[in-house]
Amino acid sequence: MSVATRLVQDQSARFTPVPADTLYQFNESPLLARQSQQESNARSYPRRIPLALKRAKGLYVEDVEGRTFIDCLAGAGTLALGHNHPVVIEAIQRVLADELPLHTLDLTTPVKDQFVQDLFGLLPKALAAQAKIQFCGPTGTDAVEAALKLVRTATGRSTVLSFQGGYHGMSQGALSLMGSLGPKKPLGALLSSGVQFMPYPYDYRCPFGLGGAQGVKANLHYLENLLNDPEGGVQLPAAVIVEVVQGEGGVIPADLDWLRGLRRITEKAGVALIVDEIQSGFARTGKMFAFEHAGIIPDVVVMSKAIGGSLPLAVVVYRDWLDTWLPGAHAGTFRGNQMAMAAGSAVMRYLVEHKVCEHAAAMGKRLNEHLRILQRDFPQLGDIRGRGLMLGVELVDPTGVTDALGHPPAFARLAPLVQRECLKRGLILELGGRLGAVVRFLPPLVITASEIDRVAEIFGRALAAATASL
Ligand SMILES: Cc1ncc(COP(=O)(O)O)c(C=O)c1O
Repeated sequence: MSVATRLVQDQSARFTPVPADTLYQFNESPLLARQSQQESNARSYPRRIPLALKRAKGLYVEDVEGRTFIDCLAGAGTLALGHNHPVVIEAIQRVLADELPLHTLDLTTPVKDQFVQDLFGLLPKALAAQAKIQFCGPTGTDAVEAALKLVRTATGRSTVLSFQGGYHGMSQGALSLMGSLGPKKPLGALLSSGVQFMPYPYDYRCPFGLGGAQGVKANLHYLENLLNDPEGGVQLPAAVIVEVVQGEGGVIPADLDWLRGLRRITEKAGVALIVDEIQSGFARTGKMFAFEHAGIIPDVVVMSKAIGGSLPLAVVVYRDWLDTWLPGAHAGTFRGNQMAMAAGSAVMRYLVEHKVCEHAAAMGKRLNEHLRILQRDFPQLGDIRGRGLMLGVELVDPTGVTDALGHPPAFARLAPLVQRECLKRGLILELGGRLGAVVRFLPPLVITASEIDRVAEIFGRALAAATASL
């Protein structure tokens, strides 16, 4: 048994495991009723996951009614080591015991210095050797904003290429990079309009109607042509921004040859390559950073979520040739969260010492195999995809009219039913992708083999119940 496995089991021991015959009912509790009355109409997760949480440990959360749930959402991928991991708690307690200033703007401290050394130690050597770091406001979207300013200043160009299905956050600049039109529609013209969208290598729904190596080839050819055609109608951009595995867009892993091609083309054109690792970063895909699967070195890497060890933190790491912006070019009050840096350092060290990359890859493979076995009985599991413990299943309607590649249409109506049946059985999962038809698995990376088996078992039962109810 690995150390990671033991730690998770020790922590979870105080929680009543989710019994096999669990079938929770959801009546609106006073807390939830008050939440829906008092909180904004823009609130999102509580609509699909109507839980009032009381405490949490490892893979598990407990609600105010004493019910236990397996958390395969994990703060949208933030909780690499699960809830309240002992090394995270210890790091936070040490900051308090040492009476460190909790708020330091961007002044340095021993904790901050250590955090930078730990983070640079995780980067591929070729990037670490020329890396600079900017601490941002504590959300991923602010790091994306910073990355946009950085590349625009350094190149003297203003436009950016983004990808269909991409998600980079909700502030106005980051929003303008988003593929989904929903959140943009009510705003009319966005403040930042210099974004050109490109087709992403979404193999199952190949935008070129080709799929496989042919689809990848066509995609790269299209991109290269766009950047080089003097009458292509598109200005040479400052940067291309990409998620190596699109998360919110439906857990779509980019083909590795495509990524290598993207790096080659951008380098040749003198266009910065920004890789958004906010969701895929820190061992989730089986490598410390998802871009490492392709062996590429980006110009800019945007990081948040797991980097703060459960607490808010976001940074941009970039090659020094881009470091031409002026002092104060990306200021902000909350850039010095010492607790998050201490917790982030503790998580980074744990990931390395306990070989969590290998563990995440093995657990992801195990879950993938379970899902493929379920696929034999459920033709609604159209496409099972992802890397490591960033997995998704695109639900399809097998009776629908197939597309150019012979794939049935997305089954948007089924997805929330499956999600609800999972929740009733004590499993929290999130949806994403086009029309919300992709079920996403983002568990803590220290999930054990038997817990993976349990997740798959609950998912199978929920699927049976959901499809029977159609
Ligand atoms: C790839 C990616 N980029 C950016 C963001 C935005 O991060 P935040 O919600 O912390 O602003 C997210 C959030 O889910 C994300 O998945």
